[in-house]
Amino acid sequence: MTRVALAFSGGLDTTVCVPLLEEEYGYDDVIGVTVDVGQPASEFDEAEETAEALGLEHYVVDAKDEFAQLCLDSVRANATYQGYPLGTALARPVIANAILEVAEEQGCTGIAHGCTGKGNDQLRFEAVWRDSDLEVIAPVRELGLTREWENEYAEEKDLPVEGGDGGKWSVDTNIWSRSVEGSELEDPSYVPGEEIYNWTQAPTGDTQEIEIAFEEGYPVAVDGVEYEPVELVQHLNEVAGAYGVGRTDSMEDRMLGLKVRENYEHPAATTLLNAHEALEGLVLTQEEREFKQLIDQRWSKKGYEGLVDAPLVSALEGFIDETQQRVTGTVTIRFEGGQARAVGRDSEYAAYSAEHASFDTETVGKIDQEDATGVAKYHGFQRRLANSVIDDDTDEEVELATDGGDADEDE
Ligand code: ARG
Repeated sequence: MTRVALAFSGGLDTTVCVPLLEEEYGYDDVIGVTVDVGQPASEFDEAEETAEALGLEHYVVDAKDEFAQLCLDSVRANATYQGYPLGTALARPVIANAILEVAEEQGCTGIAHGCTGKGNDQLRFEAVWRDSDLEVIAPVRELGLTREWENEYAEEKDLPVEGGDGGKWSVDTNIWSRSVEGSELEDPSYVPGEEIYNWTQAPTGDTQEIEIAFEEGYPVAVDGVEYEPVELVQHLNEVAGAYGVGRTDSMEDRMLGLKVRENYEHPAATTLLNAHEALEGLVLTQEEREFKQLIDQRWSKKGYEGLVDAPLVSALEGFIDETQQRVTGTVTIRFEGGQARAVGRDSEYAAYSAEHASFDTETVGKIDQEDATGVAKYHGFQRRLANSVIDDDTDEEVELATDGGDADEDE
């Protein structure tokens, strides 16, 4: 008897995949696997009910802890792609690995998803699965299915899909972000109303401050209360969401090259990313901060691609880990006008000295204020030289005094 494991949500795409895997791909038996990365309870109910109505053997795997840990790793890398904190992207390899594990345990020889041939998720799932010996199947893409065809097929086969499209928008939710796409949103000029949001309130004039504690780049407590990763993220989604924090409306360049309009909500992610960056600003040196931007950008790209287990990522994390040893301390965040703004930071590792930077003192250690005069004279010296050659149409002799002042006055 041949078995195939299907990434199952109970939505239209994955529901039609069940009979198709038998009819078109010749499998005797299909099992459905739903992985919990923090979707709302209603999604599990839908998956459960649909599986039951289909007579589908259904497995639910809780991967919230593992996923939350990855989200917090992404905070250390200040990870965003075109303004999006990668919720869907980071969840995919976690989901793919969990399904693969069930598939292997259950003796499956095939593994399938219901993704279309247009999105990123097909690539992220298959990057994990194609490392295995299982046959990778993508019925929606391979059979060229459209929503219209799927609806007709479901009716014909009397499949348990709630008549219609299961909601107007295509939504993907996990603890790190909620993404909304499709329908009117496909018109980039369409201005969405409040109805597309679920986690965030429209910003009001209200404000609130919270204090987030970090240890080695990981957030560990809010207002002095320690949380495990999942609870920390859920808590901040609620608190920050009430102030309308973390709404993104962007044109996203997908991996295949398609440009799509995406709307996201990610209150906890925005709060933690802003707080983390503020703490790095206090403890890291200028050159560490500058170089880390390159590292972070590459980490983010691999995250977007669903390739967080690439050797490059381990190498980048070597650098990240080294820098994060000092990213310990607290940050005060103020929620205000839909923003989560760092308004205070403190760390025992601060690369900062108020005494030295202050307007009220004259010396920096053993260096006097006037010692900067020499630096000021040299600053921009090559620029003066180069510009004097470029500007030589004036024919006047330019005096290259290092204090730069006299040449101008002589003209
Ligand atoms: N474009 C995003 C990504 O590739 C999220 C897509 C989520 N899917 C959805 N049906 N809303 O990571």
